[in-house]
Amino acid sequence: MKRFRALGKTIFSSHPMNLLLGSLLAMVISMTGLAAHAAGGELSKEDQACLSCHDKADQVKKLENGEVLSLSISTKAYVESMHNGTSCEDCHSNIEAKTHSKEKKSIASKRDFSLSMRETCRDCHKKKFTQYDDSVHAALIKAGSKKAPLCSDCHNPHTVLSAKIISPIADTPCAKCHEDIFKAYAKDVHGLERVAKGKSAPLCANCHQAHDVKAASLGSGVKDACISCHKNASELHKDWLPNTDRHFEAISCPACHAPDAQRRVNLRLYDGVEKHQVSEKTGVPQFDRLTVAADAKNMGLDEMALLSLLKEFNRDGAGGKTVLRGRLEVRSGVEAHQLSEKSKALKDCNVCHQAGATPFQSVTLTIAGPDGRPLRHGVQAGVLTSIASVDSVRGFYAIGSTRIKLLDILLVLVVVGALGVPIGHMTVKRLFKGVREKLEAERLAAAQGAGKTAPMAQRRHGDEASK
Ligand code: HEC
Ligand code: HEC
Ligand code: HEC
Ligand code: HEC
Ligand code: HEC
Ligand code: HEC
Ligand code: HEC
Ligand code: HEC
Ligand code: HEC
Repeated sequence: MKRFRALGKTIFSSHPMNLLLGSLLAMVISMTGLAAHAAGGELSKEDQACLSCHDKADQVKKLENGEVLSLSISTKAYVESMHNGTSCEDCHSNIEAKTHSKEKKSIASKRDFSLSMRETCRDCHKKKFTQYDDSVHAALIKAGSKKAPLCSDCHNPHTVLSAKIISPIADTPCAKCHEDIFKAYAKDVHGLERVAKGKSAPLCANCHQAHDVKAASLGSGVKDACISCHKNASELHKDWLPNTDRHFEAISCPACHAPDAQRRVNLRLYDGVEKHQVSEKTGVPQFDRLTVAADAKNMGLDEMALLSLLKEFNRDGAGGKTVLRGRLEVRSGVEAHQLSEKSKALKDCNVCHQAGATPFQSVTLTIAGPDGRPLRHGVQAGVLTSIASVDSVRGFYAIGSTRIKLLDILLVLVVVGALGVPIGHMTVKRLFKGVREKLEAERLAAAQGAGKTAPMAQRRHGDEASK
């Protein structure tokens, strides 16, 4: 039909009167098309022939693994689907209409059958296919997953309707595989809003994409999606949250907006030069080997283990390229989908900014695995407040009494260092560099205008004096 409409436009495009005629012609053509399709009579002879056998209930084929493949295709649903303009042969060119019913082709399993058909969509939907090829789901399939979705897991090719139609949220294809997350989402602020008001509130694909789905914690894709709808989020938080941008960077949105969630600190391996998370996409996997070696007793990495691990990652002349970047996040995927209305969001500074704050008692180290999903290893909570890890965790600890105490200790050490006493295996210079960098960052942050950094400023003077 589209083609006909385009044809009408090209023939009559030069004059307004002709344009009108053109659209009239297009309308007539498309209406006859519609009528024919609606009756099912206009399906090609070949298609009708296929359906004469396949539009029967209870048509099945037993597969080698014992599964039963339904062979029934509803003519009615097909004619009403977005694919009513394509013919069976477009996608089933390998089927010999006359003979295949007697051939008894052997098919190992439903999954095998789907995999054998997976390339069919590529010709007509190149763009979606390319996006999908780059997704976590496609990576999982390449790695042999039997559960990750192909196009046909999310779209039945014989019944597919327009994506513009608003269906009940439970019909989203994501729900059948991510059931627990769907249940949480359905009860959270967006799920409820979606049911009440329709499309303005997000469904899975609005935050994660439908085709180019990436691991949720990788990069800033999901956060960018939040901000694409909540455009003034940063402004609205600035009223009460100093250094809003720093907080948005260091805390995932659900960590404050899922009020009942448990939280943790995630130390991500980060490429400080290329500015992205380190991943194991290329080369020999190192993460599991190195973390297990560094944590023989499986008690969680301590600060020295973390330091030597970083050194390993910076071998081969990488020179400090790999750093750690802390982020406060919720502990489980389900909790990321329990967002509440704003009045329940976390506003109390003390939940994070006091000595021994709960969210800082659970710490993990992650690298992005080959498909982008994080590989994890436990880290001892003491690492965040340990002097030895100032360099590696770049001061990712809450301000408040913890930080001030730590800075006090550092100052003492710097003075001691000046007397020439080496501390552990770290040189004073190194320690000092950590402090300098940290304070520099603080100076910058303070220069950006926000609140409570006055005590830091005093200490900075102290440091400079001892240089
Ligand atoms: C005479 C009835 C008949 C007609 C006509 C027919 N089919 Fe079939 N079809 C069958 C039967 C029976 C099977 C199961 C064959 C088996 O056990 O391997 C089947 C299997 C299939 C399968 C399952 C997978 C496979 O590769 O075997 C597909 C797909 C299929 N048909 C598509 C079509 C298409 C497309 C047409 C029209 C071009 C068509 N059929 C015409 C009877 C028919
Ligand atoms: C847009 C592409 C497309 C069109 C058009 C199409 N099919 Fe299919 N068909 C597929 C794909 C892909 C599969 C495999 C589905 C899966 O992975 O389970 C399939 C599977 C089948 C099967 C096996 C049973 C099943 O549902 O998996 C039959 C039978 C079949 N098609 C018949 C037909 C007939 C008859 C027509 C025309 C009326 C038709 N198909 C039109 C793509 C198409
Ligand atoms: C022969 C070409 C052809 C093939 C092959 C094909 N499609 Fe389509 N598809 C179309 C056309 C034409 C439409 C109608 C709407 C349009 O122009 O996008 C459509 C529409 C769709 C839509 C609905 C789009 C919307 O606007 O909401 C989906 C989803 C879809 N196809 C999925 C698939 C999948 C999955 C496969 C592979 C199993 C596939 N298609 C294979 C031609 C094709
Ligand atoms: C994980 C589920 C999932 C997979 C896999 C998937 N899709 Fe989709 N697709 C969706 C959802 C959800 C929508 C509607 C929402 C949207 O477009 O954001 C959609 C929309 C579409 C549309 C209509 C888009 C539009 O904007 O009009 C087409 C065409 C399509 N998909 C084709 C494909 C093809 C081809 C593949 C395989 C390469 C594929 N899809 C794989 C979930 C999926
Ligand atoms: C309002 C945006 C939003 C919506 C809607 C949404 N998600 Fe998420 N999703 C997130 C956020 C945020 C995370 C956590 C990302 C992070 O770690 O920073 C996440 C994480 C995930 C994860 C990874 C979980 C894990 O174990 O780490 C999956 C899988 C997921 N979502 C699937 C879904 C599905 C399926 C739906 C629909 C039922 C959905 N999401 C709806 C925002 C959303
Ligand atoms: C056919 C089953 C299936 C469907 C349908 C499906 N997924 Fe997945 N998805 C998986 C599997 C399996 C994994 C890997 C295991 C895991 O991480 O949960 C995965 C992983 C993911 C991840 C990465 C998890 C992480 O740790 O970051 C995200 C995000 C995701 N899916 C989102 C979606 C969205 C959004 C949809 C719908 C548009 C969807 N999925 C539909 C099976 C599916
Ligand atoms: C430190 C905790 C915290 C973080 C991090 C945070 N928020 Fe908030 N947010 C709040 C609190 C508390 C409120 C309620 C403020 C009020 O009522 O004055 C709020 C309000 C909101 C509102 C409602 C604004 C309005 O006034 O209508 C939106 C939308 C929102 N946040 C989105 C986000 C997004 C998106 C992110 C991540 C980029 C995020 N928030 C990160 C604590 C946080
Ligand atoms: C597709 C657009 C869209 C996306 C994407 C989106 N939201 Fe929303 N969000 C809405 C709508 C619509 C509402 C309900 C109306 C309102 O209160 O603004 C809402 C409500 C909220 C509320 C409750 C506000 C209140 O007034 O109580 C919070 C908090 C929130 N969203 C946070 C987020 C976070 C965090 C993300 C990303 C993980 C996100 N949103 C992604 C559209 C979106
Ligand atoms: C959910 C936990 C959380 C809450 C709630 C929170 N913060 Fe933060 N805050 C952090 C984290 C994490 C950082 C980043 C620390 C780092 O990078 O060392 C931070 C950084 C800061 C900084 C900047 C320090 C620097 O190094 O630049 C200031 C100032 C600050 N917070 C003040 C506040 C105030 C005031 C409130 C209450 C209105 C508040 N925060 C609420 C976790 C939180």
